Amino acid sequence: MSKNLVQFMIEEQRQIPGASDDLTGLIGDIVTACKQIAHSVNKGALIGVLGSAGSENVQGETQKKLDVITNELFIKANEWGGHLAAMASEEMDDIYPIPAQYPKGRYLLTFDPLDGSSNIDVNISVGTIFSILRCPAGSIHPTAEDFLQPGTEQVCAGYALYGPSTMLVLTTGHGVNGFTLNNDIGEFILTHPNMTIPVDTQEFAINMSNQRFWEAPVQRYVDECVKGKSPGGREKNFNMRWVASMVAEVHRILSRGGIFMYPFDTKEAGKAGKLRLLYEANPMSFIVEQAGGMSSTGRGSIMELKPTGLHQRVPVILGSRNEVERVVGYHKEA
Ligand code: AHG
Ligand code: MN
Ligand code: MN
Repeated sequence: MSKNLVQFMIEEQRQIPGASDDLTGLIGDIVTACKQIAHSVNKGALIGVLGSAGSENVQGETQKKLDVITNELFIKANEWGGHLAAMASEEMDDIYPIPAQYPKGRYLLTFDPLDGSSNIDVNISVGTIFSILRCPAGSIHPTAEDFLQPGTEQVCAGYALYGPSTMLVLTTGHGVNGFTLNNDIGEFILTHPNMTIPVDTQEFAINMSNQRFWEAPVQRYVDECVKGKSPGGREKNFNMRWVASMVAEVHRILSRGGIFMYPFDTKEAGKAGKLRLLYEANPMSFIVEQAGGMSSTGRGSIMELKPTGLHQRVPVILGSRNEVERVVGYHKEA
């Protein structure tokens, strides 16, 4: 019999001594949000949601209409349930404390409501990324400071991928499981139990147009991959992919291995990388490591970083263990 996500979560919680069903309730609300987002993304131009919103987010990026809509959907689905003290999103300047009319809970939720939004108008896969933390100060007056916890403190992380199928991939620290949305019954069904990342790969993903801005270790690694079996290269040839939706890249890596890099670059002064620690790098690192992969800034573990700001950016190198270790080794040698 096929198992849906809520049933899977309840059964998993029963096996963990002391686990509360609060987390299952919260994940249920997140699932609702992802189904609503899947619906909007899928209807696209039919309901007039494509194109720019004409506004900018706190990071100076132009917002798409769907960045704003999906942010709102995510908040509305998660604010009422009594599981959360506050939320923080890539698309909001400050944290969002749970409004006074709702009961407060003991978790914090961070999210990127629409990842890969540059792809939305060209009908290429996009996603939603989320991470759940405990609220350290209790649930009464959560502050931005409460969110600045290392990724190792995450209770749960996941993403929804709005591709040819809508999928939800999740970890609570006991491996990684993938669910596919059956639109006929409106349920996510367990289709990809125990997802694991092969330790070796012949596929790398990086935005090559930034090549001249990379540091020497990444230059060296990519140069060797491109050379493949020719002199100065590697023992094998490599293939390259770049979707420009991190969710889609991570999903490919969970499915068949690979290495994904958005490394440190000197393109814009003051930006340590492009991807955001709390909304993208930490949740994806948790998932990748739970699937047997590895994640690093190049110089050290992403999840051990103590965040210094809500919207902090970090270099990200993640995927198949042996390749990530090689890139980290090149950083050490340099
Ligand atoms: P977002 O749409 O949430 O801003 O994230 C886009 C991110 C990530 O998904 C992707 O890997 C990367 O930005 C693509 O960046 P480039 O356009 O620089 O390739
Ligand atoms: Mn993103
Ligand atoms: Mn986004």
